[in-house]
Amino acid sequence: MAFPYVRLRRLRRTAAIREMFDAAPPPPARLVWPVFLVEGENRVEPIASMPGQNRRSADELERALEPVAAQGVGGVLLFGQTEGDKDEGGSAAFDDHGVVQRALPRIKRAYPDMVVMTDVCLCAYTRHGHCGPIGRDGNVDNDAANGLLARVAVSHAAAGADVVAPSAMMDGQVAAIREALAENGLDDTLLMSYSTKFASSMYGPFRDAENSAPSSGDRRGYQASYANLRAALRESRFDEAEGADILMVKPALFYLDVIARVREQTELPLAAYNVSGEYSMLHAAAEQGYGDLYAMARESLTAIGRAGADIILSYWAPFYARMFGKQ
Ligand code: PBG
Ligand code: ZN
Repeated sequence: MAFPYVRLRRLRRTAAIREMFDAAPPPPARLVWPVFLVEGENRVEPIASMPGQNRRSADELERALEPVAAQGVGGVLLFGQTEGDKDEGGSAAFDDHGVVQRALPRIKRAYPDMVVMTDVCLCAYTRHGHCGPIGRDGNVDNDAANGLLARVAVSHAAAGADVVAPSAMMDGQVAAIREALAENGLDDTLLMSYSTKFASSMYGPFRDAENSAPSSGDRRGYQASYANLRAALRESRFDEAEGADILMVKPALFYLDVIARVREQTELPLAAYNVSGEYSMLHAAAEQGYGDLYAMARESLTAIGRAGADIILSYWAPFYARMFGKQ
């Protein structure tokens, strides 16, 4: 059977027919809002390169989360930074009184039903801005980084994180963290690995927000190459073998094929990180009048879900949740 008897437009003739057969767009419960914590109180600092996003002190974050939790956003991902205490190994990242460690109990207390995740990395805490200490050969020292990342993860888990999420792309970081969590009796903490994380040009606004741009060189020696699909798939496979509970592809929009491939190769839950550059470029386009902001945001989040992501880390989370259901 073919045209003129088969007419595909019949199935999209009215809104009610379309709605009957469309996959549901990702509900807010599957979104996680990445947020930036700073020290102190009463601080809300707009991030110039990320319209609508702010750096906040813990008290202000607690306030900002109220409508977000009420709208049913599933979780938050906390990013910390240090303003005065950067050193070679990023030791402020595992300070038990650090900005993330102190915010965790109060956020968990205020919003016990939200899934509270923490980014586990060193780049916002090292003087040189790399994701681990620099070795004698001038490269990031993989194994030394693992020991430090494990300390960060344990300090976050002990402070109440539901999920720790290592993003440094060191070999063996998942195994090191899983082992350290077990040694410390932290058996219930979920480990979400940024398992396939590419060296991408889409992280620029984030590095502004976090003050975490490398002062020299780049991250191509540890983050995956976007031109090597097989290596990217191996990254997720290895993290699964090392004990990750959740895998991730990052960024999302230029990598929908990778999301679909990782989805096929694993039974683990899969996250996708809709990164800062992907968020800010839609804002820039909308500002120029090239498209409607909400329509573009919804289309992009639906595409990431369609590719196979179970959860989406996205700066759109509050905006999307507010508009969700209204079309
Ligand atoms: C830190 C980290 C980065 C992002 C998440 N964790 C930056 C980087 O790797 O340079 C990027 C997030 C974004 O762009 O939204 N390792
Ligand atoms: Zn990092």
